Amino acid sequence: MTVQSGLLLEHCKAAIYLESEIHNLSLIPKACRQFNRALEQLREQYPDAMLGAVVAFGDNAWKRLSQNSAPELKSFVALGKGNLAAPATQQDLLVHIQSLRPDVNFSAAKAAMDAFGEAIRVMQEIHGFRWVEERDLTGFIDGTENPQGDDRPVVGTIAEGEDADGSYVMTQRYEHELAKWEKLSQHKQEQVIGRTKPDSEELDEVPETSHVGRTDLKEDGKGLKILRQSLPYGTASGTNGLFFIAYCATLHNIEQQLLSMFGEKDGKTDRLLGFTKPVTGSYYFAPSLEKLLSL
Ligand code: HEM
Ligand code: MG
Repeated sequence: MTVQSGLLLEHCKAAIYLESEIHNLSLIPKACRQFNRALEQLREQYPDAMLGAVVAFGDNAWKRLSQNSAPELKSFVALGKGNLAAPATQQDLLVHIQSLRPDVNFSAAKAAMDAFGEAIRVMQEIHGFRWVEERDLTGFIDGTENPQGDDRPVVGTIAEGEDADGSYVMTQRYEHELAKWEKLSQHKQEQVIGRTKPDSEELDEVPETSHVGRTDLKEDGKGLKILRQSLPYGTASGTNGLFFIAYCATLHNIEQQLLSMFGEKDGKTDRLLGFTKPVTGSYYFAPSLEKLLSL
């Protein structure tokens, strides 16, 4: 089996995230094939762009498209309490496009709309950009502990069986409160993240309620790893933040980190949530390319 072209890419410069409701499921199989043909054409036309895409489905749609697949898949459920809550805005279809070139990404997004447009209603379209030194808009380097090279497929894709080369996906759009964040001293910000700001060194003592403290989890001595493909988005004068997206061979790892951030494991919450809020949240399954093209 083959993993979809956008899933494992490294150091992309830009992405487009399209999340939609499906209102005509019967059109979807053909649309997947049409989009793939257009994508392959763009990949040939602009080899320097390193273009890739992932098409993934929410639980309701996937159950109707494919039986006996992705047993862990479920709809996203709201987590946390009050102003530390993660809302559920589960959609049916995710199209994730990424590459080194925003112009080529736009062509691919147009191709996605040509293919899927009649079958869907787009609920969210976010254009992400890589910021300086691969930093999040908080100013911290994002991705330091992300798996690299050969570890990416190990962490990000299912190894064998019916769903081989497929992947579980989580998306959450976060809106930052940068004015509030930027009032903190660098030392305090580092205590919130759990790493140093200039060069992303892990702190000697990682606070339990720092972001790294909440997400660097172990089970039976083994690290719960995920593959993050998030990017900053938004405007300098208005709303901005991080479009968080993670891929994993098991939904379990992503969910455990979420539960830990939002106080659903031990009552403790991630201090980062005092400065950024999730406003959307969905789980998806991204099948292998062969499975996608044979729906
Ligand atoms: C690490 C930022 C949300 C999972 C980090 C780091 C930063 C960061 C700066 C440290 C550098 C690195 O290893 O990449 C953010 C921001 C978020 C966000 C700004 C939201 C606005 C999330 C969410 C999850 C998550 C929702 C999972 C559900 C992780 C993991 C690590 C990490 C697993 C690596 C921990 C380790 O092993 O050291 N994040 N993150 N992050 N984040 Fe996030
Ligand atoms: Mg670690």
